[in-house]
Amino acid sequence: MENKRKVCIMGMGYIGLPTAALLADRGYQVHGVDINQDIIDIINRGESHIVEPELDTFVHSAVKSRYLLANIEPAEADIFIIAVPTPFHADKLNEITNSPIPNVDYIVDATKQIAPYVKSGNLILLESTSPVGTTDMVAEILKKEGVDIGGIYIAHSPERVLPGHIIRELIENDRVVGGINNASTKEAAEFYRTFIDGEVLETTAKTAEMAKLTENSFRDVNIAFANELSMLCDDMDINVRELIFLANKHPRVNVLNPSCGVGGHCISVDPWFIVDSANGKAKIIAQARRTNDYKADWVLEKIKNTVQQYEVKHNKKPTVTCMGLAFKPDIDDLRESPALYIAQKLNGFINMICVEPNVKIFNKLDLVDIKTGLKSDICIYLVAHKEFCKENIKESDLDFCGINNSYN
Ligand SMILES: NC(=O)c1ccc[n+]([C@@H]2O[C@H](COP(=O)([O-])OP(=O)(O)OC[C@H]3O[C@@H](n4cnc5c(N)ncnc54)[C@H](O)[C@@H]3O)[C@@H](O)[C@H]2O)c1
Repeated sequence: MENKRKVCIMGMGYIGLPTAALLADRGYQVHGVDINQDIIDIINRGESHIVEPELDTFVHSAVKSRYLLANIEPAEADIFIIAVPTPFHADKLNEITNSPIPNVDYIVDATKQIAPYVKSGNLILLESTSPVGTTDMVAEILKKEGVDIGGIYIAHSPERVLPGHIIRELIENDRVVGGINNASTKEAAEFYRTFIDGEVLETTAKTAEMAKLTENSFRDVNIAFANELSMLCDDMDINVRELIFLANKHPRVNVLNPSCGVGGHCISVDPWFIVDSANGKAKIIAQARRTNDYKADWVLEKIKNTVQQYEVKHNKKPTVTCMGLAFKPDIDDLRESPALYIAQKLNGFINMICVEPNVKIFNKLDLVDIKTGLKSDICIYLVAHKEFCKENIKESDLDFCGINNSYN
């Protein structure tokens, strides 16, 4: 299926590479760009550097058919997609809200890099999760770099895919598209309609940016509610899982599950983008972020107390296993993981080993198999991986992720 249009994608990561492979499959000529030469070499061998179902096959056939080529430099194209990281600054805090400040430097760099290749009639799409106003900033940068932005289309379309299901969700999910003007919105929406089956919803750039931040903040606030309940119930000697099961029998109540915190590079990061720009007015969103971060420290204190009590009772230091390090069940992603944070804080304080069935090598902690891990005096369940069984939980263990939950 040949499509004469050429797409240049900046950033060949979890979002950029699957998008590139899918567009190549739909007949677009795709020029994938990354600043990491190793990634370029892997892609040009027809391989994927990302663990994601189906992606290997898509990349292999896209490269073999020469619809996808990767390079360190951008090239002329009809459509440019920016899918670079948007973390926050490691060493700066917002003085009003005392919260992390978003780092859009990668977007600035990528925009400057494509500027010499942009020409009249081109469509520029920002897919990175961005603070409100970033798409306008992209337009401003292009203008300063000498691009006549009157003749081009610029829009934002945030990604909402679930790792582990990226290819399917790229095709099936509904998509919000917002341009810096009406013409840009229309042009961008038409492009997405050529390769996705979900509904394409048209709005403004700012609303599209805020929509993505809202989705992740919604999840964060609701998880914070469950985490707060778990800490209150602990004081009241109430089983929080039973409580949530009973409350959810109400036809209009749906409390989420508590955990040892919130991780990953989206939900634990993006709500701060709203807080940073809200001059202290985003009170619930900021508090939810802090509650979810605090939950990991609360879990840490619980573990330390349990270890001390064991020592007093048995007159010996217990051996301890942390069960699970990833930021959620059944994945290998350790980014911003509260379980990893807890394990690293415990390491050194106690005699500890870790079990993470989805990670083969991790040299910062002592990783063992499940059978070995279960032999410890105390097993601390931090992530509900499918390999962990209720039957193995003994009285001295701690369960922060609902392995031992009979209320489903
Ligand atoms: N991964 C997800 O599930 C997901 C979901 C929704 C939204 N997002 C958002 O999408 C964006 C990208 O996320 P990701 O997970 O793909 O990140 P990633 O870290 O996997 O990939 C980004 C890639 O961009 C490259 N890069 C950095 N600067 C560049 C430049 N100037 N030119 C070309 N390449 C450059 C990096 O080397 C890296 O390979 C972020 O804003 C993220 O928040 C991610």
